[in-house]
Amino acid sequence: MSNWSVKNPYQSKVTECYVLNGPDSKKETRHIVFDLGDSGLDYKVGDALGVLSENPPHTVDELIEVSGWDSKQIVNTHNGERTLRDALKMDFEIHRVNKRFVNSLVEKVTSAGMRITVTLVERYREAVAGGGSEWMGGDTSLVAEPNPSIQGDDPAAKVANLVSDGDAMEDYIWSRDYIDVIRDFDVQYDAEEFLELIDKLKPRLYSIASSHDAHPGFVELTVGIVRYSHHGRDRGGLCTVYMADEVEIGKTDVGVFMSPTKSFILPEDKSTDIIMVGPGTGIAPFRAFMEQRVFDNADGKNWLFFGDQSEKTEFYYKDSIESWLDEGHLYRFTTAWSRDQEEKIYVQHRLKEHGAEVWEWFERGAYFYICGDKTYMAKDVHRTLIEIAMEHGGMSEEDATFFIEKTMMREEKRYLRDVY
Ligand SMILES: Cc1cc2nc3c(=O)[nH]c(=O)nc-3n(C[C@H](O)[C@H](O)[C@H](O)COP(=O)(O)OP(=O)(O)OC[C@H]3O[C@@H](n4cnc5c(N)ncnc54)[C@H](O)[C@@H]3O)c2cc1C
Ligand SMILES: NC(=O)c1ccc[n+]([C@@H]2O[C@H](COP(=O)([O-])OP(=O)(O)OC[C@H]3O[C@@H](n4cnc5c(N)ncnc54)[C@H](OP(=O)(O)O)[C@@H]3O)[C@@H](O)[C@H]2O)c1
Repeated sequence: MSNWSVKNPYQSKVTECYVLNGPDSKKETRHIVFDLGDSGLDYKVGDALGVLSENPPHTVDELIEVSGWDSKQIVNTHNGERTLRDALKMDFEIHRVNKRFVNSLVEKVTSAGMRITVTLVERYREAVAGGGSEWMGGDTSLVAEPNPSIQGDDPAAKVANLVSDGDAMEDYIWSRDYIDVIRDFDVQYDAEEFLELIDKLKPRLYSIASSHDAHPGFVELTVGIVRYSHHGRDRGGLCTVYMADEVEIGKTDVGVFMSPTKSFILPEDKSTDIIMVGPGTGIAPFRAFMEQRVFDNADGKNWLFFGDQSEKTEFYYKDSIESWLDEGHLYRFTTAWSRDQEEKIYVQHRLKEHGAEVWEWFERGAYFYICGDKTYMAKDVHRTLIEIAMEHGGMSEEDATFFIEKTMMREEKRYLRDVY
């Protein structure tokens, strides 16, 4: 057992970080390998790895410059005393503006001329003059209602609109960081005051894509790199861009820790059949499962459903999958390439096509695993399982829902999910 944790992460080195997509792909999905060295860290398939990242130096430097701060100023953070530059690099999330910061603009922008208050007093007078009954009273700067007529060039009016209209706020913060906002409103914050407002840097979790038995001393991930461009600057996800762009192979220390699972595990009985549904990066834990089933000489059948945009560019781990098929370790491999034809083909469409066989597997006690996108894919697959139970199990909708959600998922614990 080792004592490494989120508060005391092991400083690991990345040994490999390569793109899995073929040329001209619209995606950047990487296979990333961490060396566990002499950490004593262990893991089982189904576990996740926690990764601590840092902000890109160019973003840190631009933020310090636009704010007119001294990068060497010593500041107090939740991680102790350090220079402002180190704090902004390692302790806080600076790549996306939070709502607390936008709300704080109310003070900053009004103090430059009390414009919000003046605007609202004018609106109040107008409402009273027009016999309006909508005025709520109270603190004028906080009860402002969204009013498209005050969204002109007046910065105070813009702030009033942002703090009072949830949709406008979401829309504004979606594409901006602190540099954008400080420039947009030409505001000044003391460094300490700024640090009080922004979020602490959080680790990110990744489903482990390797079996420790197959790769002793290493842990491997399948990571979708998040990149986008807004307001004339290229940006992206904190941790994925850090791993792809900032971490130097064999050189940079990257803090990692294990996040073990209690539920997303292989069946104890190695002769149990399993169905794995993992489109996109959802394939990660199933590469690990397959490596473990091969290592364990497990005789249960393995059926993998995988999909992504195109067979040419997104067929991740093709060589391994083909050899598992050739050697009989993978009994069935069903693909759903969503953009290789006019109409979208997703994993749930394939499950439905193979519904009779999927149902037979369920009746024989097979485990069903799903990994990947929680918002759309996992919901659609869940609905498809209910439809399969209705069509092939002859159940009413109510009974099918009970079977999938209560019997398989809660009682028998053989419908298991790792979705994010
Ligand atoms: C248990 C678990 C397992 C996971 N396993 C994996 C895995 O195996 N592989 C994997 O890749 N990920 C996995 N994830 C997701 C991972 O933890 C991170 O959330 C992901 O990598 C993004 O992190 P990031 O720091 O790069 O992005 P963040 O800095 O957290 O930013 C991500 C956010 O960027 C925003 N965003 C995206 N596109 C745009 C855009 N165009 N404009 C503006 N904003 C945008 C979205 O709001 C998104 O939520 C897992 C998550 C969990 C909880
Ligand atoms: N937090 C983050 O920023 C972050 C980082 C990485 C991944 N993720 C999330 O994790 C998930 C996995 O990302 P990924 O790039 O590995 O794969 P993905 O975006 O989920 O795409 C994988 C495949 O699933 C398809 N798909 C889209 N909608 C679907 C649906 N409703 N049902 C079934 N399949 C569907 C996609 O098709 P089409 O694209 O052709 O529609 C593609 O073929 C995504 O949802 C992504 O948002 C989030």
